[in-house]
Amino acid sequence: MGEETCKPRKRKMKGIILAGGTATRLFPMTATTSKQLLPVYDRQMIFYPLNTLIKAGIKDILVIVAPEHSGQFLNLLGSLLKKHDIHISFEVQSLPKGLAEAFVLGRNHVGDDNVALILGDNIFENDFSEQIKAFRSGGHVFAKKVSDPERFGVVRFNKDNRAMEIVEKPENWISDFAVTGLYLYDNRVLDIAKKMKPSLRGEYEITDVNKQYLKMKELQVTIFDGEWLDAGTPDSLLEASIIVKEKGISRNFHPILEEAIIEFNAELKRRSKMLKNDQTK
Ligand code: DAU
Repeated sequence: MGEETCKPRKRKMKGIILAGGTATRLFPMTATTSKQLLPVYDRQMIFYPLNTLIKAGIKDILVIVAPEHSGQFLNLLGSLLKKHDIHISFEVQSLPKGLAEAFVLGRNHVGDDNVALILGDNIFENDFSEQIKAFRSGGHVFAKKVSDPERFGVVRFNKDNRAMEIVEKPENWISDFAVTGLYLYDNRVLDIAKKMKPSLRGEYEITDVNKQYLKMKELQVTIFDGEWLDAGTPDSLLEASIIVKEKGISRNFHPILEEAIIEFNAELKRRSKMLKNDQTK
């Protein structure tokens, strides 16, 4: 009998969309619905990060939501992509305890695989599917030059463009490069998140996860130039809609998602027409 070789299994990439939180800066709109279900131009906000994951060929996606909005997410996404063999599941985050809690709540979903986490309010003009598909190990984040770095997790580079330091909302300037809301990690992130302690502001910080990968010299940073929008205030929500319209971002969805949204909307119209007919009988 020939000697059998046991090749390690290639890990799949699972997806997580973090769509919880309280979004107080968008109150009163967020008193009745989730921020990530508000429209950005002509599509619900969550479709943009969903599109980023679908374009990268991710077939298993966990959406983490706040308890009060779980039904709305289920109605919109629950069976949207079933016939395309893309599975969307849901997990409730009872309180917004921090971005890194996604890997505690998503532990079973990730299983033995790698994971792409995207924030439910982050809209990217760039298509990162090549980087997501090529990911094998370590951590990989995406940075963009901004004029207000104190609002974000910020990464400092040395003169050879190697990431040297990451700080969450730095009080003193270290760099203009914000770490945006798309994060790729290998399976070790599950253990890193499990051992984490909350920060001074009481959150499980994604920046602490990135710091660990940086310390292990396994954090890759891609700098990009395209639009990056996180619509956290009425003004930035309006601006996001204008940019999405001008740049045609909502016209550039993956065909599977585009078709599913059109079908979903047609079904809604059909149901409302039936309801009207019933009422006039
Ligand atoms: O947008 C990128 C930035 O996101 C990064 O540069 C920062 O390093 C990272 O900490 C995060 O900063 P923010 O202060 O902008 O995070 P925020 O609390 O606004 O949460 C981002 C989204 O994630 C928001 O849509 C709500 C959701 N969220 C947030 C928390 C804390 C949850 O679903 N659960 C949570 O526990």
